[in-house]
Amino acid sequence: MQQVNLGLVGGGTVGGGVVNALQRNGALMASRLGVELRVVKVAVRDLKKARLATLSSRLLTTDWRQVVNDPAVQVVVELMGGTTIAKEVVLAALRLGKSVVTANKALLSAHGEELFAEAARSGANLYYEASVAGGIPIIKVLRESLVGNRVLHLAGIVNGTCNYILTRMKLEGADFADVLAEAQRLGYAEAEPSLDIDGHDAAHKVGILASLAHGFWVKPEQIHTEGIRHLSKLDLQFAAQLGYTIKLLGIVKSLPEPLPAKTKSPVTAGRRKSARVQVSVYPALVPNGHVLASVNYAFNAISVRGDVVGDTLFYGRGAGSEATASSVLSDLADAALDLKHGSIRRVPDFVAHDGQGQVCPLAEVVSRYYVRLMVLDQPGVFARIATLLARAKIGISSIIQPEGHAGETVPVILMIHDAPNLAMQRVLAQIAKLPDVKSKPVMIRVEAFD
Ligand code: NAP
Ligand code: HSE
Repeated sequence: MQQVNLGLVGGGTVGGGVVNALQRNGALMASRLGVELRVVKVAVRDLKKARLATLSSRLLTTDWRQVVNDPAVQVVVELMGGTTIAKEVVLAALRLGKSVVTANKALLSAHGEELFAEAARSGANLYYEASVAGGIPIIKVLRESLVGNRVLHLAGIVNGTCNYILTRMKLEGADFADVLAEAQRLGYAEAEPSLDIDGHDAAHKVGILASLAHGFWVKPEQIHTEGIRHLSKLDLQFAAQLGYTIKLLGIVKSLPEPLPAKTKSPVTAGRRKSARVQVSVYPALVPNGHVLASVNYAFNAISVRGDVVGDTLFYGRGAGSEATASSVLSDLADAALDLKHGSIRRVPDFVAHDGQGQVCPLAEVVSRYYVRLMVLDQPGVFARIATLLARAKIGISSIIQPEGHAGETVPVILMIHDAPNLAMQRVLAQIAKLPDVKSKPVMIRVEAFD
């Protein structure tokens, strides 16, 4: 049987999972593909470290170049993380015309265009199923299964660590720091966990999904990104009382074209208007009736609305050794079949299409809001807050204030009607300055899935 030789750069959580899964299911894959996948070299940092997978010491090296340059290695599997050395690894392998598989969303998000350009120049294939949503095959869905659709709306829970933390805070009243430590122990969190909890990891993934859906590469700095650090158990409890669950969401949404200008420039007349797309990551109140509200722990889910297919939903484990390994195996199967049949870029890794789209600043996006204020419980407070909101033409849909004692600081929850993000930020800055308001207002968007 034909054999394809793999060189791994990284033998940690994901790399170890891949080696174990190949040991378990390698023969099954070989019988399905007609190709045997064999790990012939693995680069790690520390040769003495205890590992998830049993690796013969003769396969190990601390020099990634020995993996990439080994003439026996046909597919380089980058599972080390980071964006500096990992970029060198991927570029070096592509320049040698080798197939590359990566799970590195930070790398793709920041340098995707350059890496795809190098792959095209070298006639090499670059695969990245494991970079988004762990074991969910969402890259294949967007690149292949839904290729005949325009993506109108995509909403997803794409960070397992944050979803794990929010679920345990809500269901068990657990403390943020304790649950984060547990997520790290379970292999969900990034080496630098602030990437998870400050929303950057989700932004990397959402940028990749938005790019595939809309045909222009969306860079991390174009994505409005908020994390979950500022959320308290109080917010999760109030949201629950109101019939919502707080989730860190990635949103990719086609927005209506702006109103046409009165006179058309002869230069732009006849050109297709560029698509305006909201691409953002923020914690949001999800109505309990919506399926995303019941996606718990390290599970991820992505709902995708196509103009032909309608609504679809993809669900599964979004982080961890085995779930991620499953997606790497899928890429390895594609790489092996492409090598077997000599197909170069049969399914192109990324193709710009439909002209230049643009990311719409979140300031222009309209939504509803949950606002928690900590205020002094004394007469006139509501009137002062309501006056500022009324002046900004922003309507309150409901108010909750748990019973307190006069003179105490108490939480007040305002549910706010549709308003543009910029107007909302401005009025909250004014509210924060009122003498009765005792801490920075917490604002969480209420997501509409219409
Ligand atoms: P990890 O457990 O920290 O493993 C990283 C591996 O890379 C380790 O084996 C490390 O060696 C090796 N390494 C680091 N720097 C190296 C260098 N300069 N030369 C040679 N080897 C080096 O990380 P991970 O969780 O497996 O994540 C790997 C990648 O997959 C990241 O891009 C991550 O974002 C992505 N990913 C992770 C998950 C997940 O659930 N964990 C899911 C999807 C995608 P030592 O073992 O000797 O330290
Ligand atoms: N740290 C990531 C997460 C790993 O928690 O989702 C999977 O990409």
